[in-house]
Amino acid sequence: MSSRSSTVQGLPFPIPSFNNCNNFEGCCPPPYNQTFKHFYKFDTKLPMRTRRPAHLLDDAYIAKYQKAYELLRALPDSDGRSWKNQAKLHCAYCDTAFFFPEAIGRFQVHYSWVFFPWHRFFLYFHERILAKLLNDDTFALPFWEWDNQTPEPPLANSLPEVYVNPTYQNYKESSLYDVNRNPCAYPPNIMDLQLVTECVPQTPGLQAALRGSNNRLMYNQMVTGAPVNRLFFGEAYRLESWPGLGAGTIEAFPHGTVHDWTGDPSAKVPTSDMGLFRFSAYDPVFYAHHGNIDRLWEVWKSLPGDYRNDITDPDYLNTEFLFYDENGDLVKVKIAQALDIGNTFRYNYENVSNSWLQEGS
Ligand code: C2O
Repeated sequence: MSSRSSTVQGLPFPIPSFNNCNNFEGCCPPPYNQTFKHFYKFDTKLPMRTRRPAHLLDDAYIAKYQKAYELLRALPDSDGRSWKNQAKLHCAYCDTAFFFPEAIGRFQVHYSWVFFPWHRFFLYFHERILAKLLNDDTFALPFWEWDNQTPEPPLANSLPEVYVNPTYQNYKESSLYDVNRNPCAYPPNIMDLQLVTECVPQTPGLQAALRGSNNRLMYNQMVTGAPVNRLFFGEAYRLESWPGLGAGTIEAFPHGTVHDWTGDPSAKVPTSDMGLFRFSAYDPVFYAHHGNIDRLWEVWKSLPGDYRNDITDPDYLNTEFLFYDENGDLVKVKIAQALDIGNTFRYNYENVSNSWLQEGS
């Protein structure tokens, strides 16, 4: 085998074999004998769906959103779409369960350029599964706009209310609630996007300081610190490169910080669920957190500058993944299909102010 540096074209990752899955953390999704659709075509006739900020949802939307997760949680685990299997799929991909004999180390979708597109696909299929369960093709996931530092309630940079109330709308347990959360992430507390600290009382002065540093962090991760695509998306990752070579700016902070801050520090396994790769997709807020990450990818591309473009390396574009679609079938996709959310996937994001663009500079 020749030794290639990570900047030279090599071999893209093909789909993993679900038979070659290391179940040491109970991550491996079914079926163990996989059959999948080879040539998945996206349904470009879907209605355009607009993903909205989770702190601004209306009651009718919330009722539908809750219903969707209630139905998802009710699916049997023989169904690849089930609540548990969705979380397992994330666990398997994110926590090194898949093995490629030709690769160095176990495959994983963090700390490299596959981070953004893998999670985009995962959310897309998750959203389509929920839509199918609701029998409503207009259903769109919300996004958790933690980069918005607005001081008036409803707070964006705190856990949105919709996830907070365990008995919302008289449910015995709201389907959007998760027990393994950090109480300190609940309103009126706001997050420090840069640093996970002990839970301290947040005085108005401390909150004002946090808002300032959060805006500066966002400006740095999106603008000054990521003028070219490799810095934004992370390091190249091919069959012959080591896993975990380097996260992009946003993946490192605030993506990681929001995870760690939301998970329960006093859970049996500390920082469960959101703070651990293997459990994080058990919290419904995971999908809204990644909605914001996905939105920031679009924002980054829209910022001025000649180098704010998607990666065009063929190894990136030809990297393949397997997901469960809305019918519970395994489908093969490749990153080249992930780059045009409007035409391919038929969703977009509500325009929000991105005020760190002014306030963080
Ligand atoms: Cu695969 Cu935010 O994690």
